[in-house]
Amino acid sequence: MKCTIIAGSHRTNSQTSKVAKFIQKEIQTSGLFDETYLLDLHDSPIPFYKNKWKEDEEMMSIWRPIYDEFTSSDAFIVISPEWNGMVPAGLKNVFLLVDHTVLAHKPGLIVTVSSGRGGAFPVHELRTSSYKNSFINYIPMQVIIRHCKEVLNTEEADPENKEDVFYRERLKYSLAVLLEYARALVSVRKSGVIDTEKYPNGMS
Ligand SMILES: Cc1cc2nc3c(=O)[nH]c(=O)nc-3n(C[C@H](O)[C@H](O)[C@H](O)COP(=O)(O)O)c2cc1C
Repeated sequence: MKCTIIAGSHRTNSQTSKVAKFIQKEIQTSGLFDETYLLDLHDSPIPFYKNKWKEDEEMMSIWRPIYDEFTSSDAFIVISPEWNGMVPAGLKNVFLLVDHTVLAHKPGLIVTVSSGRGGAFPVHELRTSSYKNSFINYIPMQVIIRHCKEVLNTEEADPENKEDVFYRERLKYSLAVLLEYARALVSVRKSGVIDTEKYPNGMS
């Protein structure tokens, strides 16, 4: 099973990137998934959607390899900071570039990041619209990492820091649940029921 992690901040040395790397390491150490792919939108700035990317040479060279990684993934972790109460534009762009197949009927875990008490808005934004045409199947739990600068900074949990311990346990549990959904949803994709030719888009 392969898991793609999308770090949705465009900022250099972002907290989102820190959380993404922590999650990747956690997956590798626990052996929960066989393979991970990390797309950090800071390292990999993707041009904004304009036209069909298959007809655009620049987009083919940048987006095609990412698209192929997505295609071979069984689960996704979408990590978003809260920026002015929103999901960053670069992360929304990813949902414009995916078609109705690469994320379709694959489980997604939403993780949001705030340096303060925020983090709920990007959860709602992702759950409100990003699934409609991508058909990503967000699992019914999320992790909201508040006061992010104070947690997940060391290899081992800091027993004196209750929030640090809490987030590590919550992430571990959520990743284990995500893996079970990844296993379960293989049968949905292989069932023969999914008809993306006739129903390429969700209703709104
Ligand atoms: C443009 C911008 C807008 C922000 N707006 C919010 C916000 O609405 N709510 C919030 O909790 N934090 C907000 N923050 C602070 C982020 O929570 C903080 O930068 C945190 O580290 C996550 O972002 P990062 O992954 O880019 O580091 C904002 C940060 C930036 C750069």
